Amino acid sequence: MNPRLASLRPYPFERLRSLLDGATPPAGLKHIPLSIGEPRHTPPPFIAEALTAALSSLGSYPLTIGLPELRTVTAAWLERRFGLTAGSVRPDDMVLPVNGTREGLFAFVQAAVDTTRARAAVLMPNPFYQIYEGAALLAGAEPVYLDCDPLAGYLPDLDAVDAATWNRCQLLFLCSPGNPTGAVMPEAYLRRALELASRHDFVVASDECYSEIYRDETAPPPGLLQVAGAAGHGTFERCVVFHSLSKRSSVPGLRSGFVAGDPSLLAAFRLYRTYHGCAVPVHTQMASIPAWQDEVHVRENRRLYREKFAAVVPMLREVLEVDLPSGAFYLWLEVGDDEAFARGLFVEQHVTVVPGTYLARETARGNPGRGRVRISLVASVEDCVEAARRIVAFVKASR
Ligand SMILES: Cc1ncc(COP(=O)(O)O)c(C=O)c1O
Repeated sequence: MNPRLASLRPYPFERLRSLLDGATPPAGLKHIPLSIGEPRHTPPPFIAEALTAALSSLGSYPLTIGLPELRTVTAAWLERRFGLTAGSVRPDDMVLPVNGTREGLFAFVQAAVDTTRARAAVLMPNPFYQIYEGAALLAGAEPVYLDCDPLAGYLPDLDAVDAATWNRCQLLFLCSPGNPTGAVMPEAYLRRALELASRHDFVVASDECYSEIYRDETAPPPGLLQVAGAAGHGTFERCVVFHSLSKRSSVPGLRSGFVAGDPSLLAAFRLYRTYHGCAVPVHTQMASIPAWQDEVHVRENRRLYREKFAAVVPMLREVLEVDLPSGAFYLWLEVGDDEAFARGLFVEQHVTVVPGTYLARETARGNPGRGRVRISLVASVEDCVEAARRIVAFVKASR
């Protein structure tokens, strides 16, 4: 088998399972899992209705390029959402449906990395979504981790990377709002990434799957295509963005997203996908069309997350320092020994959270996840409040 498979690291949830192995939480306390970033709000009913109405399509193979209606709707959504000039996102060659961003992110790296060039590198934030690393390793590139420093707003310092590393860089991953930090990359930051990409000739892959989950209704997070468009990059040279319905519409099981950007990159990616056989099923595409056309359910989704942050953050602040993140649905808390905290909280209070060290890698400055845990506010308001109450009790008891 492919020897590169041996370089893959255990997934954070596998490590969490080992950490909690043999632990026996109090039998009378209901389990509250706040570890996985799996949205649990009720999705709008019209998505399931459109899905079932499209089941007659099961008799046809889907095309890799996707349905023209879906491509038109997603291109129009990008233009509306990011204030792009009408017609600047061409549905025919600038968007492609994917089976969720996880699949798209992974597959894109396989198509993008050129191992005939020496010491291919894929740069990524640290902590990060583990698919970036696995995709880089399997493609034969070296993952290079850029620490997200809390003092720099949890944004990797692009200017701290030396020119030799940029010259080896074939792809830079950005994630905004970030998982697990919730940090939003401002326009100036994205512009800087694009300048570096032009100077050193690499691709910027912007994971924007949390772009619709933000706190301030008047300040949606900017996107890479928006900045590229404003900078005069008419065909979004070297840029690809990844969007998903999983978080926006709370349908992680639908497996629906899209990739958009530079048509020359998408043409190669489309060719790759044809052979990989990862065309999005027609019924999934049909269910996705109304989801990208409606913003009412997305605003309601944000309201529910806002309600949870408003309830939970003041409670936790009684015992811990808590930053309110600009986007996504995580708290990235400083707790001391993160593994001991996660295990203790499970054993004593039956609440599951992820140790930060599992979500990041050791660099010269240590592991930027050490001493933190990630808490996903995906459960109901009542469960999140109950979990916060138990976390407070746990912290007080362990002092
Ligand atoms: C940063 C990030 N990117 C991508 C994904 C994948 O989402 P999906 O494949 O459901 O679109 C996740 C899921 O948790 C994530 O946290």
